[in-house]
Amino acid sequence: MRKILVTSALPYANGSIHLGHLLEYLQTDIWVRHQKMSNNDCTYICADDAHGTPIMLKARELNITPEKLIEKSKKEHIEDFADFHIEFDNYHTTHSEENRMLSELIYNNLKDKGVIERREIEQYYDEDEEMFLPDRYIKGTCPKCGAKDQYGDSCEKCGATYSSTEVIDPISVISNSKPIKKKTEHLFFKLSDYEKFLSNWLTDNRVQKEINNKMKEWLSDGLSSWDITRDKPYFGFNIPGEKEKFFYVWLDAPVGYIASYKNLCDKNSINYLSSWERDTEVELYHFIGKDIAYFHVLFWPSMLEGAGFRTPTSVFCHGFLTIDGEKMSKSRGTFIKARTYLNHLNPEYLRYYFASRLTSKIEDIDLNFSDFVARVNSDLVGKLINIGSRCARFINKDFDNTLASKSNNQSLITQILEKKDAIQTNYENRDFSKNIRVISSLADEVNKYIDDEKPWIKIKDKDNNEAVHEVCSDGINMFRVLVGYLKPVLPKIAESVEKLLKCSPIDWYNIDQLILEKKIEPFKPIITRIDEKSIEIIKTEARED
Ligand code: 2FM
Ligand code: ZN
Repeated sequence: MRKILVTSALPYANGSIHLGHLLEYLQTDIWVRHQKMSNNDCTYICADDAHGTPIMLKARELNITPEKLIEKSKKEHIEDFADFHIEFDNYHTTHSEENRMLSELIYNNLKDKGVIERREIEQYYDEDEEMFLPDRYIKGTCPKCGAKDQYGDSCEKCGATYSSTEVIDPISVISNSKPIKKKTEHLFFKLSDYEKFLSNWLTDNRVQKEINNKMKEWLSDGLSSWDITRDKPYFGFNIPGEKEKFFYVWLDAPVGYIASYKNLCDKNSINYLSSWERDTEVELYHFIGKDIAYFHVLFWPSMLEGAGFRTPTSVFCHGFLTIDGEKMSKSRGTFIKARTYLNHLNPEYLRYYFASRLTSKIEDIDLNFSDFVARVNSDLVGKLINIGSRCARFINKDFDNTLASKSNNQSLITQILEKKDAIQTNYENRDFSKNIRVISSLADEVNKYIDDEKPWIKIKDKDNNEAVHEVCSDGINMFRVLVGYLKPVLPKIAESVEKLLKCSPIDWYNIDQLILEKKIEPFKPIITRIDEKSIEIIKTEARED
């Protein structure tokens, strides 16, 4: 039995979960469910990312305290995730005592190591608001191409990145005033001390090819020290021993992975540290979007290494979600919140669709609504669920709800079961789309078998009773195996089928045990086809959200 710790990126506590977020949580949840079906001791950890300037400003705008805002967000996030059947073993917040203690511990260890340096820097300061301005809160003219109204860190016109002090005619986005340049003392983490460690860490298949190449590029360019300080006002943790200085949110955010795990362990009297020690046997995987790879493959392993903790086994990146081929956009009605979707459609449709598109690559994934409707209606409902409903009808009506004592087509059953190893491997490798293809073509085979046997005609002749009974029982058994193959993707459908067949929860060890001579429940519809009108309603509501 493997011991595995899995995380998804921590969502910020100032906004709702949307379909873009869900791509990652569903990818992770499917992978974790597969591990659990393998009887591995797998723990899925997450939390809200509760600190930083945007959260402080959002609370101000709503005229509530940041504490109130993050409490509300956390509750909303937990409900959204649960309704998409995303099953965390623990969901915490980075604004917690565990996280404060661990962030301080890691910082103090790094300080003791001599890899924290102090330097005076100059930053823009908003005199009206009495605050230093993060780059995103400065707008002005691009120093490279002259485009107006560009952010303080990069230009959307020419793609250049620069420091905010280079921006021409800067303006504070918060007060619209002209910021002044002001000196301030900041603490930096000396990342260059970890270049050697990072190149070694990289060798063991830790990251995907594209990230590996990117990391080599970053390493050969040389790593600059990382500013881990923010001045007041800031919503975050005070840096121990410093006056009015706070940890930058990106320092305590990943520490939140450990803190959430500690929170879970404390509830169960388990020693959390044994999973975070250097020589631990526990595997650690982070699922993240490609935009935050830099933090997870450079800063985070170096912080852990420097502070004497274990480092990640692997970091798995995914691409962005586009909708109907374009970036999500409010005006097109494609910036869809989890709740807006849930108000109109079954979450398992999206789980199935995302699974049908997800691979181990970092490519962007498109949610094409016509493809979505077609796949759910024809593949999932029309092919797979149809096997159960068409066979159960005969078992319920003509055979007293009881399955036959033997099979009519052992060779097809064997052919289906032979795919088990490949299916497990594909889940393990995050090649979910391959599985959806294999399972869908197996469903075609089963439907063809039933079509060829024509139980609806044969049942008219009493002499065929036994054969019809066996064919439909085969259909039910094959249906159970295929639903079992999809169980990481469709946990609730699998649960309804387990109830229908009164069988024990399907896992990778019992999936090949056929159910014979057993009474089952009367078939109840499991899911229905998507009504295309729901998509239009969702888009309209998304425009108004
Ligand atoms: O990019 C984001 O949405 C961050 N809130 C992710 C943090 S992941 C981890 F490091 F905490
Ligand atoms: Zn420019």
